[in-house]
Amino acid sequence: MDKTQQDELKKAAGIEAAKLVENGMIAGLGTGSTVRFLVDELGRRTQEEGLEFTGVTTSRRTQEQAESYGIKIVDIDEVDHVDVTIDGADEVDKDFNGIKGGGAALLWEKIVATNSKKIVWIVDESKIVDTIGKFPLPVEVIPFGAGHVIKRFEDRGYKPVLRLTEDGKPVRTDENNYVVDLHMDCIDHPQDLAEDLINTVGVVEHGLFLNMVDTVIVGDPHGPRVMTNSNK
Ligand code: 5RP
Repeated sequence: MDKTQQDELKKAAGIEAAKLVENGMIAGLGTGSTVRFLVDELGRRTQEEGLEFTGVTTSRRTQEQAESYGIKIVDIDEVDHVDVTIDGADEVDKDFNGIKGGGAALLWEKIVATNSKKIVWIVDESKIVDTIGKFPLPVEVIPFGAGHVIKRFEDRGYKPVLRLTEDGKPVRTDENNYVVDLHMDCIDHPQDLAEDLINTVGVVEHGLFLNMVDTVIVGDPHGPRVMTNSNK
């Protein structure tokens, strides 16, 4: 699949998911290229159809895009709940375990998701996998002592790589932390790995989102396909 086709599928999933946002709702807005299509559609509905909702964003990038359409965005602590959060994902398996954080927004994404009544992911079909792990697993790490955390990951065989910008500096998240990507290729025991990572001092959060999502909308050449998680 080339990038143009992939973008068409992402766009179709984003437009389909935008239908879930209704007047008066509080909606969590994720981050990434698929979510950009979602926000474009929500912006269109806001401007052309008078849709009124409050958004909580998972990154400054998404906040800027949403506000450019006149969508009202508030801080997560200004709302007591989020009705639905719509976000992208890097990989999803049949048990609804996913990897997120390709766009370095995993910490805010997990905070918004954790406080949401319903979580929806929008993906193109290339993101649906048998076993997660081919996509390098992002881990958000505090800069102080990050070298030691990376060494620990190396000792455990996690194949860590500090994520760098094009000019060779460490990527910084919206919380000013680093991202370390684990090139594990195949994650057979995601729950064990998640526990190990979160118990490592210096790790703020990891990109394993295990059985959190309720619905996955998959951009498919035959039209958007919905996968529903019945185990939540
Ligand atoms: C950002 C994310 C994104 O949702 C994920 O990387 C998918 O992005 P895209 O829609 O561009 O493929 O987790 O941290």
